[in-house]
Formats: sequence, structure tokens, C-alpha cells
Amino acid sequence: MLSLYAKYIKIMSNENKTIHDFELNLICDFFSNMERQGPGSPEVTLKALSFIDHLTDKSLIADIGCGTGGQTMVLAKHVPGQITGIDFLRGFIDIFNRNAEQAGLQDRVKGIVGSMDNLPFQEEELDLIWSEGAIYNIGFERGLNEWRKYLKTGGYIAVSECSWFTDERPAEINDFWMDAYPEIDTIPNQVAKVCKAGYLPVATFILPENCWTEHYFAPKTSAQKIFLSKYAGNKVAEEFSALQASEEELYRKYKEFYGYTFFIAKKIG
Ligand SMILES: C[S@@+](CC[C@H](N)C(=O)[O-])C[C@H]1O[C@@H](n2cnc3c(N)ncnc32)[C@H](O)[C@@H]1O
Repeated sequence: MLSLYAKYIKIMSNENKTIHDFELNLICDFFSNMERQGPGSPEVTLKALSFIDHLTDKSLIADIGCGTGGQTMVLAKHVPGQITGIDFLRGFIDIFNRNAEQAGLQDRVKGIVGSMDNLPFQEEELDLIWSEGAIYNIGFERGLNEWRKYLKTGGYIAVSECSWFTDERPAEINDFWMDAYPEIDTIPNQVAKVCKAGYLPVATFILPENCWTEHYFAPKTSAQKIFLSKYAGNKVAEEFSALQASEEELYRKYKEFYGYTFFIAKKIG
């Protein structure tokens, strides 16, 4: 889904179409049939969490762009404190809250509809900001800068973001990303942005391939079947679904050149 919104929204706006509720519902419907809406895994969530200390039952945590909460529920089972998941798709938040309830976490874990560029928190209120595969929606640098004010000094941010693994890469994949998300960058440049935004980098690691293949593309294939049978004959739905297949094809072809990186950092100063 990482490149998906950007790419899809671009196609629609190039054709002078606006994203209406119908299209958002399609996006929501497609991904609602998956536990997570982007590459990642419970193991990777816990690895990122292992670099974060000092959380207590008084801690306030936000999961921004939480989707249906696959990673949030993993987090919640391993940390104390209150977790607020935020996503701008109501359909995802409804599933999120249902999942929290089913896991018996509803007293500590709440999903709310909201936008990452207008967060409903007080300054210096949060102990931890979590965001897997979602910060690209606001932009890596902008998100790091704007979200910082909500963190207490000494609080942590943990985000995953798409990175280049090499300084040079084939034109096809370069062009794809320049079109979908030109802010994609190399890991050293991204770490420099973390520092520049006023954080101390604590850990940086690349997500293993199974976060894409086993935990993202495989469930996506099943979700796609359900989606296409529900929307048989719907041109927009078919177009949207075809974009999914191209995302996987590109990854398999060019995975040595890009992937996701987890950045864990501490607010200083
Ligand atoms: C690639 S998905 C990742 C979802 C989840 N974090 C995961 O890893 O499974 C990106 C999420 O960001 C959400 N999103 C996109 N733009 C947003 C915005 N402006 N404010 C809040 N959420 C947004 C999408 O609805 C989607 O759930």
C-alpha cells in the first residue's frame, strides 16, 4: 500500500478526477481483508520495540496511520500504557476497535478517525509515537518535524519508511518512485534527517524480505480475490486491483535496490 495511495491518487488527479468516498471505500474494502496494510511483521514490531525503554502504565502512545491495527495489537500486548491509533479511514478504525475488543484490550487501546497532519494531542504529551509504513503520507521529514512537538523530551519515535539501498538504481524503479514518492531517500540521508529534526537515532534496521512476501503480498493475493469477486465488472476496482499486482512485480524485480527501514529515535533538547 506504500506506493498505492500516492500512485492511485495521482492517476485520478491526472485524469482530473477527485477521490470521492466511493474510491476511499474501495481502498478500505480491499485492505480490510488483511491483518496489516503494509510490509511488516510481529517480529519486526517487537524488534523495534526492544530499543525503547521506560514505558509505564502511565505512558501515552500514539500509532499514527494505524490501519486496522495489526501492529498496534502486537505493541499493546507487550507494553503498558494507553495507545491511541489514528487513521483517516473510518472503515479501518471500526475494524481496529473491533480487534482491540476481541483481544480484550479496549480499556487501553482506542482507535480514532483523524489526520496525521492535524493530530489531536497536547504538546509534550506523548511518550512514544509509532508509525509503520504511514509517515510517507505526510512526508518523512515533515512528519518527523511536526510530530516532535507532541513528544515529551526523552520520548521515542519509531517509524518505518521506504528507503533506497544503493546510490544508483535502474531507471524503471527510479522513475516509479520519483513519480509515486519523490521523498524516498538513502538510509544515511534519512538518518541525517532524523538528527536534523532533533532526535538522537537509537536504532536503524532494514525490514527482512518476509515482511513483504509472507506478511504483505501473500495476504494481499487472497484479499484481491475476495475484492474482485465482490466488485466483478467494476472498472475502477479492477484498475485499482491491477496496481496492486504491479507493486509486487516491481518489488520482486528490484528488491535489492529498495525496501523498508525502521528508524527508532529519541527526542532530545
Ligand atoms: C501502508 S498503510 C499502513 C497501515 C498500518 N500502519 C500497517 O503497517 O499495517 C498507511 C495507512 O496510513 C493511513 N493514512 C493515509 N493518510 C493518512 C492521513 N493523512 N492521516 C491519517 N492516516 C492516514 C491509511 O489509511 C493507511 O491505513
